Amino acid sequence: MKVIRKIGEMMDISEIYRREGRTIGFVPTMGYLHQGHTSLFKIARKKSHILVVSIFVNPLQFGPNEDYKEYPRDLQRDLEICKNENVDIVFAPSESEMYLKDFSTFVEVKNLDEELCGKYRPGHFIGVATVVLKLFNIVKPHIAVFGLKDAQQYFIIRRMVRDLNLDIEIIPGPTIRESDGLAMSSRNVYLNSEERKQATVLYKSLMLAKDIIEKGERSASRIIYEMEKFIKENAPLSKIQYIQIVDTNNLKPIEELKSEFLIALAVFFGKTRLIDNIIISLDGTTNII
Ligand code: PAJ
Repeated sequence: MKVIRKIGEMMDISEIYRREGRTIGFVPTMGYLHQGHTSLFKIARKKSHILVVSIFVNPLQFGPNEDYKEYPRDLQRDLEICKNENVDIVFAPSESEMYLKDFSTFVEVKNLDEELCGKYRPGHFIGVATVVLKLFNIVKPHIAVFGLKDAQQYFIIRRMVRDLNLDIEIIPGPTIRESDGLAMSSRNVYLNSEERKQATVLYKSLMLAKDIIEKGERSASRIIYEMEKFIKENAPLSKIQYIQIVDTNNLKPIEELKSEFLIALAVFFGKTRLIDNIIISLDGTTNII
C-alpha cells in the first residue's frame, strides 16, 4: 500500500494507471475509519482494479462553531485499517497542500442544499462539493462510492457530477449500523455512556415511522409528530435539530407521502450532532442509482 501526500504525485500515478487501462475506484473520507467506511472500500474494490482512499479532514466544510479542531484523527490506525482492506493507495494531503493561501474557487450545488443539513450548516455543502471535485480531479477515478448515511451529500455529489459532466460513476453504499441500530460515525466517540444509550432513538424513531407508514399513514406532519414525541419521551438528553420528510427527486419537503422519499433527522446529544435517515419507496421507483 502506498501513502501519498502530494497532489502532483497522486495525479501522476493515476495517469499511469489510466494509460495502462486500469480502472480506479475511489472512496473519499475524513478518516477515523470504521466499518461504515470499509463497507464502501469493499464496494469500490469489487468494481475496480485500483482502490484509492483519501483521508483529509476538510476545513472548508466545517462552520465557525463546528468541530473541525476536535474532529477525531488517527492516521496510523487508519493506515492499518486500509492495509487490512487491501487499499492500494491512501491519499492523505495536508491542509496547505489542498488549499493555497489565496484559494478562491468554490462549487455550489443549488436547491438541493436548502433543506435538511444544508439549512442548518450554511456553506457546508459548498465545502463538500468543492473538496470532492478537487479530489476527483486529483485521483481521476472511474467510479466513486458514497454512503447513504449522508444521503443529502450523496444526492448533491450526484447532481454535481451530472451538471458538470464529470465522467465518474457515483455508487451509493448502504448505512452500516452498530448492533443496536446506531449508525456508525466517527463522531460517536464524542458520546458519553448515557448519551450513547439514548442515541439509539434516532434509528428507532425511523423504524417507528416505517411502521406507521406500513400501516397506511401518508401524512408527513403526523409521522414527524410521532417521531418527535418518541424521541423526547425516550431520550431526555437529546435536542432535535430537525426531522424532515423530503422527495428524493429534489430534496424538498412533502406533506402527502408518495413515490420515493427520505426521512431524515439531526439530533444533538450535548455538543455532539448525530444524523440518520431512511429512504422509502412506495411504488417501486427509486432514485438511488
Ligand atoms: P466521512 O464522514 O469520513 O465519510 C466518508 C464516507 O463514508 C461518506 O461517503 C459517508 O457517507 C460514508 N459513511 C460514513 N458513515 C457511514 C455508515 N455508517 N455507513 C455507510 N457509509 C458511511 O463524508 C465525508 O467524510 C466528507 O464529507 C467527504 C465526502 C470525505 C468530503 O470531505
